[in-house]
Amino acid sequence: MVKRNPNFKSLSENYLFPEVARRVKAFKHQNPHVELISLSIGDTSQPLSATISKMLKKKSEELGTHAGYHGYGPEQGALSLRKKIAHVFYSDTISPEEIFISDGAKCDIGRLQLLFGAQASIAVQDPTYPVYVDSKLIVGCHPIAYLPCTPQNNFFPDPKLLPAVDLLYLCSPNNPTGSTATKEQLKSIVSWAKKNGALIVYDAAYAAFIQDPDLPKSIYEIAGAKEVAIEVSSFSKFAGFTGIRLGWTVIPKGLRFEQYESVHQDYTRLITTFFNGASILSQAGAEAALSENGLEEIQRTINFYMENASLIRHALQIKGYKIYGGMNAPYLWVDFGEKKSWELFQHLMEETHLITTPGSGFGLCGEGFLRFSAFGTRQNIQKAIKHIETKWPRSLELMSPLPI
Ligand code: MLT
Repeated sequence: MVKRNPNFKSLSENYLFPEVARRVKAFKHQNPHVELISLSIGDTSQPLSATISKMLKKKSEELGTHAGYHGYGPEQGALSLRKKIAHVFYSDTISPEEIFISDGAKCDIGRLQLLFGAQASIAVQDPTYPVYVDSKLIVGCHPIAYLPCTPQNNFFPDPKLLPAVDLLYLCSPNNPTGSTATKEQLKSIVSWAKKNGALIVYDAAYAAFIQDPDLPKSIYEIAGAKEVAIEVSSFSKFAGFTGIRLGWTVIPKGLRFEQYESVHQDYTRLITTFFNGASILSQAGAEAALSENGLEEIQRTINFYMENASLIRHALQIKGYKIYGGMNAPYLWVDFGEKKSWELFQHLMEETHLITTPGSGFGLCGEGFLRFSAFGTRQNIQKAIKHIETKWPRSLELMSPLPI
């Protein structure tokens, strides 16, 4: 018999969102007539912009003709799209050859674990997007360093307290806390990485939601970051591509391993071996998204989600809850003090019919928090607010033991 990969023993039985879905399904089974409102998984709800959708139609029609058909594209993605990404997101400070188009940031995070292998030690923010941790556990070896990110340190690790690791994962705007790193914070981390020979994996999937013009949208806004940082990003939340799928990773050509070998060269080898390129249709849609009209339409949708965030924020504030995030990010991180996140989740689902995401699902420091996503339809957000207004206790009342 084939032996199971022993690393799977270190994983929890389910990934976070399938576990939320399992509990929701069990509740629905017992209560088929109850309407549940989900502010849980960060899945987009608004239709694609007209410019993108027209392009998808046009491209798929072209593919149905002899003249317009083609098969494989370059594994790294179409050069025209890489050029557009370099221009729109990095003001041409990154070369198109340093951009690898993919089927999404989550898949790229998995591929990066393969690139660095089991021997690379990693540190993550706690709470953190679970994929950094689980993908590391699957490749195995080395304990993971968890860096507490709490209201006390403004959800950002102090570089003076960082352990000696090979890779540091940072996500900003942060999933789940909704906090956004400042230029000063990123400068301190870039100089820590340089001093310690470490690399930063920077997840900027929510950068388009930043409202404050002084906050950095990319780690490459920091001088010297190209020598120590990889950036992963995505069209999922930015352009509503959660179903269409498209992301990218920037591997600067100057990035080196210990013996001065090129990281870019190894990543190229890895991608050309494991991946046949992102879908031609997704790439055509992405190019349309980055056109002048596409960008304008997308901005309207981003504004819509950020209005959702402020509506939820307002409703929770009136009830006296302590809320973080939601200002430069589509997630709100709500503090419930000593309560256990999964118990809160269950209680709020059963008693107030609202689905949230338990903070402890993102790490130990997420215990006592719930994450709210602002990606719903306006109708659902309004229903959720009504539930909060009419069915939720004031925050202090929640401090008494939960009736479960
Ligand atoms: C989330 O809710 O955290 C996201 O949808 C997860 C993801 O982007 O994979």
